[in-house]
Amino acid sequence: IGRYVQYEESVDSTQKIAAQIAYEQAPEGTVVIAEEQRIGRGRMNRSWYSQKGKAVTMSLILRPKMPPQQAPQLTLLTAVSIVLALRDVTHVQADIKWPNDILMNGKKVVGILTELQAEADQINSVIIGMGINVNSVEEDFPEQVKDIATSLRIESGEKINRATLIQRIFFHMEKLYKQYLEHGFKPIKLLWESFALSVGKEITARTLSSTLKGKVLGITDEGVLQLEDNYGNVHLV
Ligand code: BTN
Repeated sequence: IGRYVQYEESVDSTQKIAAQIAYEQAPEGTVVIAEEQRIGRGRMNRSWYSQKGKAVTMSLILRPKMPPQQAPQLTLLTAVSIVLALRDVTHVQADIKWPNDILMNGKKVVGILTELQAEADQINSVIIGMGINVNSVEEDFPEQVKDIATSLRIESGEKINRATLIQRIFFHMEKLYKQYLEHGFKPIKLLWESFALSVGKEITARTLSSTLKGKVLGITDEGVLQLEDNYGNVHLV
């Protein structure tokens, strides 16, 4: 992972570039990194804003031989890898909020967006987009996200070297991805549950099509969230 890196000064979205080069058969492990994103994309058709030169915005291409339904596992693997990398570069605790936000002191520092190209029930490529607020200060955040977003610098009080952080993410992802291909999702699942804030708590899970309230029981071996509603019914989200 990260053996091939395409570095861009300014792009609309690294997701878009990565999808293009994936289509042109870029090898597995290729990463597109941008200094600036003009139209960064978030989950559920939201936009993702980041400050030029102060964030890590990158998209990784993976080509696992598996059915598309398993792709959410890769998002969880990515979240776990980033938490491990954050531990290497800062002492502030990072937690995972289902499914794939990473928080420090209750505010979001990392967002992950996974997009798929699949054919005939087989994944062709998975594009995993990672957005990390690294060295931004409070004034850098737009008004509407000020209360919910933060950066590594704000939380740790230190400037963080982005290259080191990126290297640590590649290091952990490479290790976990290999382990995942060999031994399956179980080891990742256990790590994820140990980093996740929400296990045992009441949450509201929102997807594009529905909203569900309930207590988080954990995730299944497939990487799907298990929620228990007030009536004791267990839902998979
Ligand atoms: C979210 O939390 O909504 C996901 C945010 C994902 C942002 C990253 S930044 C790199 C990549 N390129 C994009 O346009 N989005 C992802």
